[in-house]
Amino acid sequence: MVKQHTVTITDNASGKSIECPVYEGTHGHPVIDIHGVTKELGFFTHDPGYATTSSCSSTITYIDGEKGELLYRGYPIEQLAEKSSYLEVCYLLLYGELPNAEQWEDFKNFVKRHTMVHEGIRRFLAGYRPDAHPMGILVGTVGALSTFYHDALDVHDPDHRNFSAIRVIAKMPSIAADAYKYSIGQPFMYPINSLGFVENFLQMMFAVRAEPYVPNPVAVRALELMMILHADHEQNASTSTVRLAGSSGANPFACIAAGCATLWGPAHGGANEAVINMLQHIGDPKTIPKYIERAKDKDDPFRLMGFGHRVYKNYDPRAALIRQACHDLLNDLDSGGSLGPLFDIARTLESIALKDDYFIERNLYPNVDFYSGIILSALGIPLNMFTVMFAMARSVGWISQWTEMMEDKDLRIGRPQQLYVGAARRDYVDMSGRK
Ligand code: ACO
Repeated sequence: MVKQHTVTITDNASGKSIECPVYEGTHGHPVIDIHGVTKELGFFTHDPGYATTSSCSSTITYIDGEKGELLYRGYPIEQLAEKSSYLEVCYLLLYGELPNAEQWEDFKNFVKRHTMVHEGIRRFLAGYRPDAHPMGILVGTVGALSTFYHDALDVHDPDHRNFSAIRVIAKMPSIAADAYKYSIGQPFMYPINSLGFVENFLQMMFAVRAEPYVPNPVAVRALELMMILHADHEQNASTSTVRLAGSSGANPFACIAAGCATLWGPAHGGANEAVINMLQHIGDPKTIPKYIERAKDKDDPFRLMGFGHRVYKNYDPRAALIRQACHDLLNDLDSGGSLGPLFDIARTLESIALKDDYFIERNLYPNVDFYSGIILSALGIPLNMFTVMFAMARSVGWISQWTEMMEDKDLRIGRPQQLYVGAARRDYVDMSGRK
């Protein structure tokens, strides 16, 4: 962080001014340090949705929303998607560099040693209603991890933090698969550590104890890509929630559970589920114009799900990669036949929306979730598991951001201010005196 120059903020009413330092990062917009505004001028800054507020400095992920660029630790997402694996991306996000051969072996072994979950967690899972939404199960179970793994919960100890990070990365797929198995009444599968990370997840999801299971390599690669693309996305709503929870010194499992809860919303990680519901509802390319009109109507709450993004005001680079993968996967799998019409509706909807002035003027492009739901459906993942898949992939981003925050010497508890617009001070009225 380099100080460039200053910006003068003047209160025209009092005539007082302050000089605020401007800092430049490696890439992206410089930031104005507004620390002095409250002390010197007596103002808070007001920024609902934090759309113009930088809440931290970070070395992990960079997004250029205008260019449609995404970098993990400086590496373009396109290169990682083509050449790397999800687990290698985990190492990169967590430790900042790509591993050498020895570090890679150690890391893989470390993660493998922790893929099993405590048997008590499975008894805990059995307390949920079988028809519970798997995201509800995930939020509860991830939160409960702190009650099973309290041997390494000193958030001020770097070894404990690393141990918890590895546990999060290793156990999320097991918990996600268990939530699914429980919902369909099948026995839980155990991890098989001779399999790759993504293959292992697929076997825990789809294998049954009665039969051997060989994961389809095309499915493995498609899921690997999905997971790489969702691994981190800088200070989005769920990541900011993880940081805010962690800033109080809460344990990492509680923080990740808070991230899962935030991700669940349809404006965030719930969008991939909402996209499939929307495409099924549209049902036929001929009805698309009606839905486009509804999306443009300010009196209609309907929005095109999978369209728009807080940061990308150009094409989401993840959406471009995933659209191609979706195409390849449907060509390869038998399910291409049944999902083909849905993919056609998605592509037609995209091409109509991208020519429409409403979407052009507002820079609304498909985001990663516009096509990811079709990939997940093609892999046989049920709709209510979509956000769980996203949470599983994002857990490395959350824990890396949490780790970075905990290492920050300047860490303070996160505590936004507010503009109070409620009732002015008034005196309590006894019941008999109330209207
Ligand atoms: N369909 C129709 N209109 C839209 C859409 C959409 N999907 N998204 C935004 N707009 C319009 C808004 O109505 C608004 O119009 P106005 O200026 O005339 O009032 C304008 O575009 C700006 O929208 P905001 O809501 O201010 O944009 P914001 O950055 O706050 O929201 C968000 C971003 C939440 C992603 C929004 O675009 C949305 O709801 N999209 C659909 C849900 C979705 O796909 N979410 C996934 C996000 S990606 C992820 O979490 C991985």
